[in-house]
Amino acid sequence: MENNSLLELKNVSVSFFTPLGEVKAVDNVSYKLEKSSVLGIVGESGSGKSVSAYSIMGLIDKPGKITGGEIFFEGSDLLKISAEELRQLRGDQISMIFQDPMTSLNPVYTIGMQIGEALATHHKTTKNKATERIVELLDLVGINDPRKRIKQYPHELSGGMRQRIMIAMALAGDPKVLIADEPTTALDVTIQAQILELIKDIQKKINMAVILITHDFGIVADLADDIIVMYGGGIIESGSVYDIFKNPKHPYTRGLLKSLPRVDIKQDKLIPIEGTPIDLINMRLGCPFSPRCNECLKVCIDHKPEEHKFENTHKVSCWLYNK
Ligand SMILES: Nc1ncnc2c1ncn2[C@@H]1O[C@H](COP(=O)(O)OP(=O)(O)O)[C@@H](O)[C@H]1O
Ligand SMILES: [Mg+2]
Repeated sequence: MENNSLLELKNVSVSFFTPLGEVKAVDNVSYKLEKSSVLGIVGESGSGKSVSAYSIMGLIDKPGKITGGEIFFEGSDLLKISAEELRQLRGDQISMIFQDPMTSLNPVYTIGMQIGEALATHHKTTKNKATERIVELLDLVGINDPRKRIKQYPHELSGGMRQRIMIAMALAGDPKVLIADEPTTALDVTIQAQILELIKDIQKKINMAVILITHDFGIVADLADDIIVMYGGGIIESGSVYDIFKNPKHPYTRGLLKSLPRVDIKQDKLIPIEGTPIDLINMRLGCPFSPRCNECLKVCIDHKPEEHKFENTHKVSCWLYNK
């Protein structure tokens, strides 16, 4: 694998084979995650963000199937290694945190036992050493009085604290990649900011790469180095944070940015993009966004747009730039 990239998806497609037909949840997705960088994946609900992350983690189960592509991590294709090798990588080298910290923690075990278990799957150590490491991890995620917290149960902690615990567990194996799937969606706004700040701090401190998945453009603005915008299972635009925020090209990206609540103007409501999200079973031939696009051309209706490259890494899949 060339240059600095740690993880690379090449033409990955994932479908769910349902009684109603094949749902093309992820369609020909390619991207690179550079070492120690933060990649934001943004898009409305149902655009394939989670499913593409699950494909990296080997978590696609029936009726889902990875129908094509390659996923390289440090040179080896994760779609070709054995289940055992993948299990070892997962959690150790690549780990993931999810939206809801309550359902992911086991209510009947103490915090210490759960982090201890996460540790034990990676490294065999003595009990004393494990306790020291648990305290260190809790410190890292900003939990004070860690020795007391170790003995508490999940219900004794707030939502924000529980998400900190989940992050500590995800960090137990010293991962090179952390995938955070809407990590703050279930939390209050003030707590959201704290958790995002924490992810940013840890990322810098331990030099890990992060894939941050969100439906909220505001969240990636100060965290991400690069951004991918997904729509209908595919990537419609990608580039640096600067490219995407200062110079968005795709009408969908522009629409999403317009719907961002702004602090500098009084705005009561989000401005949603009109039209309903697409039907992934009856996929159209053309651009998936064409029925909702206010700049739709004739060609967009039945021809998939080709990728157009701008300066640097900025790319867009839109006929407006490929006439
Ligand atoms: N188990 C499943 N069976 C059928 N369809 C699924 C399943 N899981 C996800 N999908 C479909 O895949 C698409 C992408 O889902 P997802 O990646 O979860 O979206 P996002 O995370 O962007 O909200 C959705 O349209 C969803 O309906
Ligand atoms: Mg999701």
